[in-house]
Amino acid sequence: MSEQSQTIVHDVPVNVAQQADPYPLFERIREQGVVQRVRLNPTLEVWMITGYDEAVSALTDPRLSNSPVKVNGLAEEMAHQERTNVLMASMLVADGDDHTRLRNLVSKAFTARRVDRLAPRIQEHTDAFLDAFAARGSADLVTEFALPLPMAVLSELIGIPAEGQPDFARLAVGLIMPPNTPERLAKGARARAELVEFFEPLIAARKAEPRDDLLSALCAAQAEERISDRELLSMAILLTLAGHETTASVIANGVHALLRNPEQCAVLRNDPTLLPGAIEELLRYEGPVSRGVARFTVEDFEIAGVTIPAGEMIIVGLAAANRDPARYDRPDILDVARREVPQQLAFGHGAHFCLGAPLARAEARIAIGSLLRRFPDLELATPDESLARREGILRGMATLPVTFTPQK
Ligand code: HEM
Repeated sequence: MSEQSQTIVHDVPVNVAQQADPYPLFERIREQGVVQRVRLNPTLEVWMITGYDEAVSALTDPRLSNSPVKVNGLAEEMAHQERTNVLMASMLVADGDDHTRLRNLVSKAFTARRVDRLAPRIQEHTDAFLDAFAARGSADLVTEFALPLPMAVLSELIGIPAEGQPDFARLAVGLIMPPNTPERLAKGARARAELVEFFEPLIAARKAEPRDDLLSALCAAQAEERISDRELLSMAILLTLAGHETTASVIANGVHALLRNPEQCAVLRNDPTLLPGAIEELLRYEGPVSRGVARFTVEDFEIAGVTIPAGEMIIVGLAAANRDPARYDRPDILDVARREVPQQLAFGHGAHFCLGAPLARAEARIAIGSLLRRFPDLELATPDESLARREGILRGMATLPVTFTPQK
């Protein structure tokens, strides 16, 4: 790596997820070297990995922790999160034995086998949402389909009643955004309070009267002291938030990408057996975790010729890695029939590989497959450039208005 490449600090703002095309920025950073200094906001400068192979090796390296507390000289932003963010008691930021303990408590509910059994129910929910607007000839696929479908599936699985649910997607934005402005700080505090207010009585109800759902199973584990009260609350919130907007974004980003690439959409319509591979390609091309996942160096960490000292934060750029030309032929082209490609990284990699990946894949396959089958002339109702993206650190659509021939 050249002297010059190490001194450049690239700006990767939080709104990178909202940009119409953030990928040229990742490409420019990678051109300077696959490990670079980046500025996430005026007060937070970290490292970013943009190469596929380097991302995979970072995500399996024991010198990197998921927990910001292990880092000395922590940025105030991170320290604040640690004190106040209930997700800081979740498996997402746990390492080693604690991580294994928490993950094992729920992993059986998300295996491919369990998800296969859920598929007919996912199809029923999908059909009901499509029925609701089929006769109209138009719909907003974000608010009427992509957001409510994963929530309906998760609600049944976890045991969240349909009535009285807060707007989880809005609360997730409040909770996850870096609290680096007074407005964001206040929004985060309100989101936390609302989530705790919703989940605490629900957990108490399941403890008193268990049902056949995941929350009741977690309450039983808590009674056996395998999980603390705070961890239980954190787990309920993590499972609800982690599987909602992410899955919604895969459905909406996926449909959006297909409608912008009609020839690819036609390839998929003509050969539905391509669907599982197409979902992987859509996750690679427009995954929701666009900026990446955070890791922290517990000791000096050498990667791609760069030594990152202990106590630093690294962003493993999943979307950047998914478009690494060293790994993917023509990475900026959507090709639903791509073959023999390395596993895309939208779900992460290693010990923290997304627990809900089988569920998310099943939902995306059923949702996008049903939509294409049922509405053969589906098209965007407004010019592509005018479509807003959702606020937050995830890459998703705020709205996706479509039209189609109304169905009786
Ligand atoms: C972890 C992405 C859907 C639950 C992760 C990670 C990523 C991710 C990148 C790794 C985080 C890290 O390494 O720091 C996605 C995407 C989804 C999706 C793109 C939709 C397409 C879901 C669903 C659930 C879920 C449906 C289920 C409720 C989790 C959990 C973790 C996780 C619990 C933490 C795993 C651990 O720390 O061991 N997800 N996710 N996700 N995801 Fe997902």
